[in-house]
Amino acid sequence: MLLHIEGVLSAEDLAECRSALADAQWVDGRGTAGFLSAPVKQNLQLHWQDPAAVRLGELVRARLERNPMFLSAALPQTILPPLFNRYAGGGHYGPHIDGAIRPVDGTNRRIRTDLSITVMLSDPADYDGGELVIGDLMGGRAIKLPAGDAILYPATTIHEVRPVTRGERIAAFTWVQSVVRDDGERQLLFEFDAALQQLPAGGDGDSAKLQLTNLYHRLLRRWADL
Ligand code: NI
Repeated sequence: MLLHIEGVLSAEDLAECRSALADAQWVDGRGTAGFLSAPVKQNLQLHWQDPAAVRLGELVRARLERNPMFLSAALPQTILPPLFNRYAGGGHYGPHIDGAIRPVDGTNRRIRTDLSITVMLSDPADYDGGELVIGDLMGGRAIKLPAGDAILYPATTIHEVRPVTRGERIAAFTWVQSVVRDDGERQLLFEFDAALQQLPAGGDGDSAKLQLTNLYHRLLRRWADL
């Protein structure tokens, strides 16, 4: 499931991120790429220990953790500390895959990457190119979102970032291990929850709503691994 989540970051959050990132210590993004993806990767990133990355990463993670649509769609077990990347001057990241297992930096723990998420920090009017293309059976979909919005997608996909030919594209990105590892089961629960949220509280529908909520939780209990 590909999901566009609007307004993850507020205008104030974006202003804080942009001012801190303007003077940040950007380094070559190939440092975190695997042997297959390094040759197709040309961008800049902040090191995970960079103080700006740590502070802003916690801000982004806190916003995700209280975003109802993200929580319903991702059913997160663990959200890795978000990282930051910057594409400019033709910078791009050709077709690649994200590894199935990633370390939790600074610990001896690892997660299974069920979902990838990118939170846009740049206004699309400020750069050309830079579409995130996520592979599917139709040949891929090119995505370009307003600043503050996020795209959530299965980490199982082949994806790329097209060259940025004007301006710069800055984004936060991270991976999520979900309590429901199967994308189809997770999507079913997401749609079930979305329908439940539309049922009004009170009145004759209350017993049906209780029964449907019970069914949602029985499916979640069947599929969740904690
Ligand atoms: Ni990737």
